Amino acid sequence: MKILVVGSGGREHALCWKIAQSEKVDKIYCAPGNAGIAEVAECVAIGAMEFEKLADFAQEKKIDLTVIGMDDPLVGGVVDVFEERGLKIFGPRKNAAILEGSKAFSKDLMKKYNIPTAAYENFDDPEKALAYLETASMPIVLKADGLALGKGVLICNTLEEAKEGVKSIMMDKQFGSAGNQMVIEEFMTGREVSVLSFVDGKTIKIMTSAQDHKRALDGDQGLNTGGMGTFSPSPFYTAEVDEFCKKYIYQATVDAMKAEGREFKGIIFFGLMLTDKGPRVLEYNARFGDPETQVVLPRMKNDIVEVFEACVDGTLDQIDLEFEDNAAVCVVLASEGYPVKYEKGLPISGLDAFKDKDSYFVFHAGTKFDNEGTIVTNGGRVLGVTATGATLKEARANAYEATKWVTFDNKYCRSDIGKAIDEA
Ligand code: AMP
Ligand code: GLY
Repeated sequence: MKILVVGSGGREHALCWKIAQSEKVDKIYCAPGNAGIAEVAECVAIGAMEFEKLADFAQEKKIDLTVIGMDDPLVGGVVDVFEERGLKIFGPRKNAAILEGSKAFSKDLMKKYNIPTAAYENFDDPEKALAYLETASMPIVLKADGLALGKGVLICNTLEEAKEGVKSIMMDKQFGSAGNQMVIEEFMTGREVSVLSFVDGKTIKIMTSAQDHKRALDGDQGLNTGGMGTFSPSPFYTAEVDEFCKKYIYQATVDAMKAEGREFKGIIFFGLMLTDKGPRVLEYNARFGDPETQVVLPRMKNDIVEVFEACVDGTLDQIDLEFEDNAAVCVVLASEGYPVKYEKGLPISGLDAFKDKDSYFVFHAGTKFDNEGTIVTNGGRVLGVTATGATLKEARANAYEATKWVTFDNKYCRSDIGKAIDEA
């Protein structure tokens, strides 16, 4: 088979790496890809939002299956463009990707189908949002409705902060049109867990759990980022939590989407908060997590291409997902200053140390080849250094050891990825 992967981050590198292990696959293309992806796939200079060009390419190269890594093309309807041309593609159509694309939609869906989540109100008028805040208790959470690179959520401790937040989201349009509507919701406390799943429209199969570290600095300080590191499994995702989520959240979400005429095929990523009243949905994503994928896929035993095909064909009920009984930790190496301002184009050395090592991986996020063919930094999150181990502690020690193998100027990583493991 020939596979086309769309995206250019650490998630897509992990996907290409996993797809390359499938016996069904002869050739992988990635649009646009990065310097690490180029080791396992042929990179093609087509942007993720150039739907017609992507479909032309898939037609011309007789691609058997296209896999979309990122949220923007899914929410923008890339799957519909491919399907109209009879091209096989893994991911939700536009009318289902709205599960991630509109937080107001997802909150209304959860309310209508009794899926546990934080209490909330939706607003499209800033004056009404401001009036509502006067009666609300603090802290409170403000969410821009649309996609905002994971940055559209503000946690406000005081009424003043919350009012400023509403102004910046809805009036100053800090996140552009993503702030045409907003959700104001109850602040919850608890451990966060990311659960990825495969969905074929009616059947859902849950992958192993993971935990992300969204803030830029140690001790969960600093700004929210795309994610600074992950570990899998989460020791807090107990059998009891799993049972609750299976009963009230996972299948209920798939059934709700079907009942709304928005049959969901692809990945549903459940962002959960384990509150003292039980698990609650923080958010849905319609794609693999980044960097959750970098710890989940190295533990997955299945041929991922078979699972993708089962999702597209509606035969997921015939697949049993299997994961290794081990653990994985991913530490993101970023450029100092991320997520605000950072340099690009800095040469990276030491990458060869990962070659031929079964339990160490370096997934490239923001890298490219410069004119001389040297691998240089090309983004805020540069590399995801992942290691497996028999236990979470062992995996964490291995991952941190491997972060020392790579060097580039302004290299920065959090030193406390997986600290929660010690509290389990
Ligand atoms: P989201 O993009 O909706 O996952 O939100 C980003 C982050 O904001 C989450 O990972 C949580 O850490 C935090 N967050 C979102 N909603 C809430 C909430 N209702 N209560 C507390 N924290 C929240
Ligand atoms: N790591 C969180 C996300 O992919 O949204």
